[in-house]
Amino acid sequence: MPPDQPGYKSQYDHLWKHLAASGQAHARAVGGDFEIAGRLEFALLRSCGLTPESSVIDVGCGSGRLAAQLAPGLRGGYLGTDILPSLLEHARQLCGRPDWRFVETNGESIPAADESADFVCFFSVFTHLSHEQTWRYLLESKRVLRPGGKIVCSFLEFKIRSHWTVFEQTFANQDPRKVLSQFLSRDAFEAFAFNAALDLEAFHDGDKPHIPFAGEVVWESGLRMSGLGHLGQSVCVLRKPLIARPVP
Ligand SMILES: C[S@@+](CC[C@H](N)C(=O)[O-])C[C@H]1O[C@@H](n2cnc3c(N)ncnc32)[C@H](O)[C@@H]1O
Repeated sequence: MPPDQPGYKSQYDHLWKHLAASGQAHARAVGGDFEIAGRLEFALLRSCGLTPESSVIDVGCGSGRLAAQLAPGLRGGYLGTDILPSLLEHARQLCGRPDWRFVETNGESIPAADESADFVCFFSVFTHLSHEQTWRYLLESKRVLRPGGKIVCSFLEFKIRSHWTVFEQTFANQDPRKVLSQFLSRDAFEAFAFNAALDLEAFHDGDKPHIPFAGEVVWESGLRMSGLGHLGQSVCVLRKPLIARPVP
């Protein structure tokens, strides 16, 4: 079922209820290794220029993996959006930041003013959307970003051998309510950037360490990372030019 049909939200609801019934915590509903992934997402944003004064929009924020890491030090403002209110509520409680907004959304709108954010991030979100939805979200991101602001997103691609496992798992899953696993090519991002008049700043392979962070982490799988990490998914960074270009 294409994800922009009404059943999409219920697929997520179904996944969530399944995880809850199997005794897994909210954090697990968006993948294991909650804290490590959050730390690396935060470190990635810092490597892209995030400061305590930055304003961040976290689309598909889930149960607050990134938000929990940002909460102690971010002064520039935070908006988390998601389609599932239960996850938003968990994220809100986890962060203890009454000044932050956690907003349930429907469709690809971002409830923020024009040119109000320094970062819009999509961690493991385009992996569940149609290409049309991703394109709509990128146009919305451009609207809400200040000139020089960045879009940071993680994605799955056939170029990375380890991503094939995700494809195989989705292929093997016969459940009609399964959540879509979408793959994106770098060509697609190049076309998105060109047609939205955004700068394509960087691609990072999902299986190669590229995120500088302090210390060492050990994932549940036993994978150890020290000083330089990666998220598993590939990363694309887009930038809104300081001087606007006309769209082609
Ligand atoms: C794999 S989780 C990632 C959560 C979070 N970004 C993180 O890194 O922990 C994907 C999230 O995207 C949300 N989502 C799915 N479709 C969405 C949409 N169209 N707009 C906003 N969020 C969406 C899901 O509810 C879920 O919380």
